[in-house]
Amino acid sequence: MAMLLKNARVIDPQVELDCVCDVLVEDGKIAQVGEGIAAEGAEVKDLTGKVLVPGLVDMHVHLREPGYEFKEDIASGTRAAAHGGFTGVCSMPNTDPVADDGAVIEYVKSRAAEVGKCRVYPSGAITHGLKGEIIAEMGDMVAHGAVAFTDDGKGVQDAGMMRRAMDYGKMFGKVFMAHCQDNGLVADGQVNEGVVSTRLGMLGWPAAGEELEIARDIQLCELTGCPLHIQHITTAKGLEMVRKAKESGLPVTCEVTPHHLFLTEDALTDAYETNLKVNPPLRTAADAAALIEGVKDGTVDAIVTDHAPHAAWEKAREFELAPFGMTGLETSLGLVLTNLVEPGIIDLSDMVDLMAVAPRDILGLEPVKIAEGSVADITVFDPSVEWTVAVDDFCSKAHNSGFVGCALKGRATDVFVGGEATLCDGAIVE
Ligand code: DOR
Ligand code: ZN
Repeated sequence: MAMLLKNARVIDPQVELDCVCDVLVEDGKIAQVGEGIAAEGAEVKDLTGKVLVPGLVDMHVHLREPGYEFKEDIASGTRAAAHGGFTGVCSMPNTDPVADDGAVIEYVKSRAAEVGKCRVYPSGAITHGLKGEIIAEMGDMVAHGAVAFTDDGKGVQDAGMMRRAMDYGKMFGKVFMAHCQDNGLVADGQVNEGVVSTRLGMLGWPAAGEELEIARDIQLCELTGCPLHIQHITTAKGLEMVRKAKESGLPVTCEVTPHHLFLTEDALTDAYETNLKVNPPLRTAADAAALIEGVKDGTVDAIVTDHAPHAAWEKAREFELAPFGMTGLETSLGLVLTNLVEPGIIDLSDMVDLMAVAPRDILGLEPVKIAEGSVADITVFDPSVEWTVAVDDFCSKAHNSGFVGCALKGRATDVFVGGEATLCDGAIVE
């Protein structure tokens, strides 16, 4: 049945749209965009006061299935995505088995088709088992629908290995997404190396441990011509390297997470809050300020969550034994609206670029536009609703957010994937 979405503020920078109008959806596609649309027989939904944008895509998500379903699975992770306003996510390959061949990619895709509440675009490993030793089955994975390559969770330690993988992998036309971490420097580092690691008596995870691999991978991008995307960038210096690489015309992009933008190492106290243990670690206030500047000036291409669900018992362990990572799918939009849009650092069109347009572009996905003929992947949010982050409210199996208790303004109310509602008035559509 056709559906008429009425009176929302419709924003899509791709078609220079920002006005209050109606959107008619038919057969999974956008049939018409304009003022005062009348469609007989269509289901009508009044969205007065809400904002309607191209469906948000989070290009860095750990769904944990197969293998770690006690943390999250494709059903719960995609529910969390829909609840947070996303129409699609790119899944990371650090599952068990690792997504390093076509069979695992196929499994993720078919499971998502069966139980998913959003689209799942699987990424595949760069190296077999994420071990950094043998190139993964790239052609097989692409044939089964892998959209990108990454060893996320680990850096590829050997430069020669990374070079060969990029040289070989570039023929598939997929981006290499790099988790930049030099193990020689990082070793057992727990928190940013500096004042806070000293104060807390913890091993430091130095900025150079990330920056060294960013510099290396930019050089390898230049050497091989393979498109490179720096994952969860955290330092001012790393960002500056990306800025320079872009200026020199290299195919380099990067992403940041809300936790690296809005939290700093200063949040770590002698409470040893394990939900603040993330990889790479929370950095200094100066780094966070530089990242925000990078969002503003366009050096940062995409905002992603690195949604990294863990079981409560894992995060209840001593800081050194707790795993790295925090969840993000259900707080990302609210955090961006509250901390970047509300203070005027970016506008809503920029938000759409960062959370919908660029992620699709980097992953080589078909663009979604609020325009006739486009697939109807749509996110609707209420920019005025005030709410407090609470674990009871999460659809994710996991509760390891660093933002619990945070007061936010703005939240997704409705999500449509191919014209089908997955979130309606803030509730998951069963
Ligand atoms: O904090 C993180 N958690 N960073 C990563 O790179 C991996 C992730 C995970 O898989 O838990
Ligand atoms: Zn990572």
